[in-house]
Amino acid sequence: MKVLLPGGAGYIGSHTCVELINAGHEAVILDNFSNSCAEAVARIEEITGKKIPLYNADACDPEAVEKVFSENKIDAVIHFAGYKAVGESCEKPLMYYRNNLDSALTVLEAMKRHGVSNFIFSSSATVYGTPESVPLVETMPTGSPTNPYGRTKLMLEQILTDAAAADNNLSVVLLRYFNPIGAHESGRIGEDPNGIPNNLMPYITQVAAGRLPRLGVFGNDYPTPDGTGIRDYIHVVDLAKGHVKALDYAAEHKGSEIFNLGTGTGYSVLDIVNAFIKVNKVDIPYDIKPRRAGDIAECFADPAKAEKVLGWKAEKSLEDMCYDSWNWQSKNKNGYKS
Ligand code: NAD
Ligand code: UFG
Repeated sequence: MKVLLPGGAGYIGSHTCVELINAGHEAVILDNFSNSCAEAVARIEEITGKKIPLYNADACDPEAVEKVFSENKIDAVIHFAGYKAVGESCEKPLMYYRNNLDSALTVLEAMKRHGVSNFIFSSSATVYGTPESVPLVETMPTGSPTNPYGRTKLMLEQILTDAAAADNNLSVVLLRYFNPIGAHESGRIGEDPNGIPNNLMPYITQVAAGRLPRLGVFGNDYPTPDGTGIRDYIHVVDLAKGHVKALDYAAEHKGSEIFNLGTGTGYSVLDIVNAFIKVNKVDIPYDIKPRRAGDIAECFADPAKAEKVLGWKAEKSLEDMCYDSWNWQSKNKNGYKS
């Protein structure tokens, strides 16, 4: 299939592009590089040996999106485009609602005009809100995300479910990601956040690289075995492979379906820090800090539905995730700028 990837130059999109090509699909990337750069696409081409049509354009721009659809016979869309920083979304909610909602709606309208019926969406475990129990199962009710970013994901899930219910031709797959970390084994593509990272693993790798002095561990008084927060960390290459399976599923089904993409195993912040130190033999100095506003104690997936229905299961270990994260960062100290 020929697959359009709005936001395909970003962290998850770039890894998914590689796995799509490995599986025999073709990719077209549309990205405005608001949180990525053209170098990432050059590296995807280097890894895969394939030239990828690239549109430097805003997914909210109907004319630019129309041009992509009229110049390419697109079969499916995997929509990564969006802003994702939780703290920034509280400061600039309108910018988040505008970009995240508008980009998806603009692409969906172009799909309808061109008779394209498969849409796979990057949702998030954040739509579960504060879990009443773990593991999280897709049938559990969605909760109240604690920030505008999370609410854009919940709103888009609702919009996409409504769109699929109203259009017998449309197939929508909502992928609820847990916590992607790691990088491609080549060390040529990886996570390259702007400014000081918000997320745990890029913060750890930047401490290891000497770009940041010490890690702050946000709270050690949660009701977890070591008191630090527990998450379901998943290797980004496993996550990327989940999209390839979701694409196969979308092509054969109509309506909308939700899948958790996680490993089913929760690790604490200190589990991650200690595994990273052990695997990579580098020191990660850290201080215990107060809890971060909006954080939950524990979040991990029940990934059984994705295994049963998609035939997908995460395969990489915590050690692989720590190794590949550092392989990328140590070879690219300043991300794509180095
Ligand atoms: P990312 O920022 O690396 O990738 C997003 C890409 O979209 C970037 O390349 C950015 O330049 C592009 N973009 C943003 N707005 C655009 C627009 N209007 N037009 C064109 N391009 C635009 O983020 P990521 O980690 O790869 O995440 C991909 C998707 O997955 C996002 O929707 C994100 O919210 C979602 N998600 C990410 C995580 C995570 O932990 N990384 C977890 C759950 C969900
Ligand atoms: N943490 C630290 N220090 C840091 C960064 C994080 O101790 O410098 C801790 C957090 O308190 C949390 C854990 O590490 O316990 C993971 O935090 P991340 O910021 O890496 O990830 P979150 O689970 O908070 O957020 C992620 C995505 C969000 C998404 C959310 C729910 O980044 O986009 O999962 O799906 F909304």
